[in-house]
Amino acid sequence: MVNRETAEMLIEKALEARKKSYCPYSSFSVGAALLTSDGSCYTGANIECSSHTPTVCAERVAFFSAVHDGKRDFSAIAIVGGDSREDVSFHCPPCGVCRQVMSEFCKDDFSIILYDGKTVRTFTLGELLPMRFGLLDPEER
Ligand code: THU
Repeated sequence: MVNRETAEMLIEKALEARKKSYCPYSSFSVGAALLTSDGSCYTGANIECSSHTPTVCAERVAFFSAVHDGKRDFSAIAIVGGDSREDVSFHCPPCGVCRQVMSEFCKDDFSIILYDGKTVRTFTLGELLPMRFGLLDPEER
């Protein structure tokens, strides 16, 4: 669980990252800001493709960027999403594929922070992905 100040900092970075979304097909832009346990922050935005399948969510862009930079320990992620022509107005939850990617690198207590422009809701990965599939213990990664 991160403190309020850290959650607000992550939300700000996620809102900023959302502006970099490339979403001409859905007009749904998402931004994510991922906090590593050593205090670094990696951001991502969704990137779409005309054949749809290659589209990558904001959360995975942030995770893969961090992992490619040698990071494997994570504390929290802030996610904001909605109609790209408007400010965020609902709590945008991570999709199932992104939850599974989080599961690859994070423990049950990893915090998932959602912001709708007014209020913050925080969940743990354990809450959003109970009984998760995995072959490795996070300690082994
Ligand atoms: N999207 C994300 O970036 N993260 C999620 O967790 C849910 C969906 C993106 C993918 C696609 O570009 C757009 O939102 C509409 O599905």
